[in-house]
Amino acid sequence: MINLIGIILPLIVVIVIVIAISIMWPLIIGAAWSPSSKRVVDKMLDMAEVDSLDVLYDLGSGDGRIVAEAARKYRAIGIGIEADPLRVLWSRLKLRLLGLNRRTQIIWGDIFNQDINDATVVTVFLWQKTNEKLKEKLQMELKPGTRVVSHIWTFGGWTPLEVDREDRVYLYVIGESDY
Ligand SMILES: C[S@@+](CC[C@H](N)C(=O)[O-])C[C@H]1O[C@@H](n2cnc3c(N)ncnc32)[C@H](O)[C@@H]1O
Repeated sequence: MINLIGIILPLIVVIVIVIAISIMWPLIIGAAWSPSSKRVVDKMLDMAEVDSLDVLYDLGSGDGRIVAEAARKYRAIGIGIEADPLRVLWSRLKLRLLGLNRRTQIIWGDIFNQDINDATVVTVFLWQKTNEKLKEKLQMELKPGTRVVSHIWTFGGWTPLEVDREDRVYLYVIGESDY
């Protein structure tokens, strides 16, 4: 009995700490988790005109739903970058179960520390301050013509080429929106 408590209690404490860090860490470095609805995912991919030649990065990929849909519906290469280790594990498992692991990848890490220069489409659903911090990286790394689609939050000073006011989806194109 004592042994059981001695093992289970520390295990529960460790699990609680891991979950707490998983939730807190993204809040500190970017944005909280809040999934885009299926309608918004479809709209973001549609506005970016994703096709099978695209390499799409979802920066802060959550449970991998945008990456999954880009690979499933459009046969694009989908790459997610996610800071929360539990969501990374979940999205990797989900993509494997959906049979999409050959066309997709989920990177565990901070979006600000990952190279994204092979992207042709970038999707984001972060926070305004994180978008502002991200602007320089996008301008430095992305090729002209790369589509950047943001849900809810804008890129201050950039001109969206298309706006969906109903769902607050903004399409930017590098070299055209960011002057
Ligand atoms: C609002 S959710 C969007 C999830 C997904 N893109 C979607 O649209 O359903 C934001 C996600 O970004 C992740 N995140 C926030 N800041 C990050 C950072 N600096 N690096 C990696 N992931 C980050 C959070 O953990 C969270 O899962």
